[in-house]
Amino acid sequence: MNTNCIQFILDNEAYTIDWSKVDFPPSTTVLQFLRSIPKHTGTKEGCAEGDCGACTVVLAEVNQNNKLTYKAIDSCLLFLPSIHGKQLITIENLATKTPTSTSLHPVQQAIVETHASQCGYCTPGIAMSVFGMYKSGKTPDKNLIIDALAGNLCRCTGYGSIIDAAELTCKSIKPDHFTQNESMIREKLIEINRSGDAIELSFHNQLYFLPKTIKQTLEFKEKYPQAVLVNGSTDIAVRQNKTSEFQPQIIDISAVKEIKQIITNDNDFQIGAGCNIENFKIFIHENFHEFSPITDHFASLQIRNIATLGGNICNASPIGDLIPLLIVLKAQVKTASSVNTRIINIENFITGYRSIDLHNNELVTEIIIPKKDNDSHYYSEKVSTRRDLDISTLSIAASIKLSSAGNVEDIMLVYGGLASTVKRAKLCEDFLKGKRFTLEMISEAIQLINNDFTPISDARSTTEYRIEAAGNLMLKLFYSVQLNNNNGF
Ligand SMILES: Cc1cc2nc3c(=O)[nH]c(=O)nc-3n(C[C@H](O)[C@H](O)[C@H](O)COP(=O)(O)OP(=O)(O)OC[C@H]3O[C@@H](n4cnc5c(N)ncnc54)[C@H](O)[C@@H]3O)c2cc1C
Ligand code: FES
Ligand code: FES
Repeated sequence: MNTNCIQFILDNEAYTIDWSKVDFPPSTTVLQFLRSIPKHTGTKEGCAEGDCGACTVVLAEVNQNNKLTYKAIDSCLLFLPSIHGKQLITIENLATKTPTSTSLHPVQQAIVETHASQCGYCTPGIAMSVFGMYKSGKTPDKNLIIDALAGNLCRCTGYGSIIDAAELTCKSIKPDHFTQNESMIREKLIEINRSGDAIELSFHNQLYFLPKTIKQTLEFKEKYPQAVLVNGSTDIAVRQNKTSEFQPQIIDISAVKEIKQIITNDNDFQIGAGCNIENFKIFIHENFHEFSPITDHFASLQIRNIATLGGNICNASPIGDLIPLLIVLKAQVKTASSVNTRIINIENFITGYRSIDLHNNELVTEIIIPKKDNDSHYYSEKVSTRRDLDISTLSIAASIKLSSAGNVEDIMLVYGGLASTVKRAKLCEDFLKGKRFTLEMISEAIQLINNDFTPISDARSTTEYRIEAAGNLMLKLFYSVQLNNNNGF
């Protein structure tokens, strides 16, 4: 295969796209591609920005244990080259077909039996989300089912019967025709992925690189310093879809395995910048569960399956959900260029509104998080218009350490959504330090929020709401400390 090609599996066969022969750029989305080829229009476009799930497909890939893993993703947010070496499963693949008959997949059969479809526009996406769960190897309970479906909108059926369909399907998960074909697919994928060479796709107005290692990434970065790095592409693809932004040079680091790891050391964790948000969510649940209220309500499963920790930090959005908790945890950002590596405190890494301390020849390789300080109390909350699949109106991540006498020894109050960057409430922190942590003191500190922040009014909320909610979050921090103390922590 020449290096101007990508290859993946579609309909159980290897599918090659050679950019010397096609007339669309490499940054074409998987959804646009599917809708351009015959017999694959079951996958729908609803919003083209990750909100409706009508475009959901499932990607299967070989994991480090040589097993196939299946993940539901939004195909409107994924650039085609990032499915190189993977199996693309669409709604057309679910039923078992012979020349004379078609038998529905259990997921489809359950949708029929529970009347979980009306106009049918959302149904392929819903079936694919349930199929992703069916093949996840987990035993889904109702919470898992609701979580897996939070990224799918239906305007007509009502979610009750859709959840019933998912529950009915997941009651008895049995081997299906994908199970039968698994070893054949695995061998094909291993063959496609055998080469360690980077892929360089050249279309007349776009260069698209798919490196496999950090070294190859840095070589491209050195040669093309203006090239845009892309990992999960959940931000960049939305910009392309909605504002017709066109990137002439892209370095897609989604195939770089070295930046996906989570390593546990004696004193800290090293988390690869390419760790997806779903894996980060599990990590937080296991190690810093006080921040689960943030990670549990991050986007949808389809997005968490591809969006990355590095992408969230490098966006430097004032409402980026992971930045407040990383500041509280005193995380450090590790960058690499072909000449050196740097380790930067995350508070210094974020330099302003959507601006970071990253040079043109660098990428972020990992985030280092110190182990938990068991003497500190942690707290977090995300305030958003909807509970699921919504970005924050504002959020807080906080830590507080009290002396045995009940005085505040150390405190960090980090807010998202109140300023042009994620920011600490320094005046409130300084006021509380050294004082007894009482309701009276907290009430006085809350009066200072106005001095720490002058939030804007925008489509999500007003200045007044944000200030009042920020105070209420501080109050909730107080009561959560009280609750823990009363429980003997
Ligand atoms: C529907 C929807 C819901 C969302 N919900 C949330 C939410 O609840 N909370 C939230 O915080 N965000 C949310 N987001 C935003 C987005 O999904 C996250 O910020 C995500 O973590 C971005 O990661 P990515 O890998 O997809 O980034 P990409 O789009 O690939 O990249 C984002 C930016 O980071 C840069 N970049 C990526 N990786 C690196 C690296 N290793 N080194 C240097 N630069 C890098 C890119 O150049 C780009 O500028 C949502 C987005 C959508 C579309
Ligand atoms: S089209 Fe709506 S999530 Fe992709
Ligand atoms: S069945 Fe009509 S949108 Fe869901």
